[in-house]
Formats: sequence, C-alpha cells, structure tokens
Amino acid sequence: MKTDSPFLELADDAPRVRVWFDGQPLDLPAGANLAAALLAAGVQVFRHTAVSGAPRAPFCMMGACFECLVEIGGRVQQACMLEVEEGMKIARPCAAEAGDAAL
Ligand code: FES
Repeated sequence: MKTDSPFLELADDAPRVRVWFDGQPLDLPAGANLAAALLAAGVQVFRHTAVSGAPRAPFCMMGACFECLVEIGGRVQQACMLEVEEGMKIARPCAAEAGDAAL
C-alpha cells in the first residue's frame, strides 16, 4: 500500500517487518516510531472525529495531541508513542472509542 508520501525514511535499508493497517499489509522498518513509519508508508488518515467525522493524523509526534490514535489489539493507543513490531494489527479506531466526544 505504498503511496506518494511527503515523508521520507532516513534509513531506507532498515530491516522490515510485516504489519497490517485496516487489513492492508505494510512492510515497515522494525523498531521505527509507528506514527512516522505509517506516514512514510502513505497512511494519511489515522482516525475520524466523532462529531464531524473529520480525518485526523499525527500532529505533535510527542504524545500531546492524541491525533494519532490507532487501535492495536483492542486498545486505542497513540501511534507516536509506539515502535513498529512484527505482526501488529492496526486499525482506525471507532471515533467514540478514541474519546473524541470530550474534544
Ligand atoms: S501525534 Fe500527537 S499524540 Fe501522537
């Protein structure tokens, strides 16, 4: 699912591991920051807001904005606070689960 992305990988020769994003296979650099790796792979929308359904993607990359929420193993987590691991099954969270109602 490689698409044009404005983001470049610094270490293009890093070992890759297979992960799944909304059912699509992606080969990402092992141990890379998950949010950065997904952006570099061309993922542009990580979730949608509960109120308007507006698309959201990482903004701060340091755990402050919660725009990078994804669901992994049934838990909604900040992608920018995670490292890429083999076999991750990542999904866009339901907006209500992502806690948007409070925003
Ligand atoms: S990008 Fe802001 S919390 Fe992850």
